Amino acid sequence: MTVADPDPRTEDDPVEVVVATIARSAVEIRQGLVGRRSDADQENPSGETQVEADVWADELLADRLTSIDGVAQYASEERSEIIDCEDEAYCVAVDPLDGSSNLKSNNTMGTVFGIYDEPLPAPGSALVAAGFVLYGPITTMAYARDGTVTKYELTGGERSVVEEDVTLPDDPLVYGFGGRVPHWSDDFREYVREIESNPDHKLRYGGAMIGDVNQVLTYGGIFAYPALEDSPRGKLRLQFEGNPIAYVIESAGGRSSDGTQSILEIDPEIVHERVPLHVGNTDLIERLESALA
Ligand code: F6P
Repeated sequence: MTVADPDPRTEDDPVEVVVATIARSAVEIRQGLVGRRSDADQENPSGETQVEADVWADELLADRLTSIDGVAQYASEERSEIIDCEDEAYCVAVDPLDGSSNLKSNNTMGTVFGIYDEPLPAPGSALVAAGFVLYGPITTMAYARDGTVTKYELTGGERSVVEEDVTLPDDPLVYGFGGRVPHWSDDFREYVREIESNPDHKLRYGGAMIGDVNQVLTYGGIFAYPALEDSPRGKLRLQFEGNPIAYVIESAGGRSSDGTQSILEIDPEIVHERVPLHVGNTDLIERLESALA
């Protein structure tokens, strides 16, 4: 099925208008990466150097999403302040270009979004929909709502469904773990050894969470950016990365964890807070939680 965005069947629903707007904008974001690969000489609120494309994609999404009826707030990993809108209802949190350090080497990146029905910062339990766009050889979107995940291919103003009711394959195949190995805890290192020693598992790590998570969604397995000795909350941001990804993976029948509980159960304190993120097949996440207990 091909959907022209905005989908006329759903254009009264602000959630679907947000998703359609992100789908259309993503095609432009991809085209606009050319010529925007240099550092922007400024840092995001987490202290990471931004590239020009980070700043540009954030401004493009901010303009478009804040003008949608029913959007109450826009927050982004690339700006310190939340934009408040006149409307009430939905609060949108985005990572406009996840993995933008891959731009220099021309590797995979993504755009992540979460749509909450509570003011930000909000817990993952307040998500009504979430998803991500992957800028791979093909631009694709994985979108979760009402407990199901749909995968699309994006071209121009159209979304073509490639798979409905996406679920994680039962037999996990891939694993990818971020952070410097010397900074992992002994318990996490031990767990990784166990995963690696299974001859059915193979390593996939590309340095952009969306690329690595989409491998897990496609082949089954586990992705983690764990707590590190020098960064006990890991690297990834709860509102913009952790919650949306946890929502997609849990909707696809997998599990998420910060080491002890579902990512979606965490009560956030600040918008840019970080979270140790582990997502994947349920049995692998359960084993992880036992290993870290
Ligand atoms: O947003 C942060 C990010 O770019 C993720 O997409 C990715 O998983 C991670 O950082 C990569 O970090 P590192 O460079 O430490 O492997």
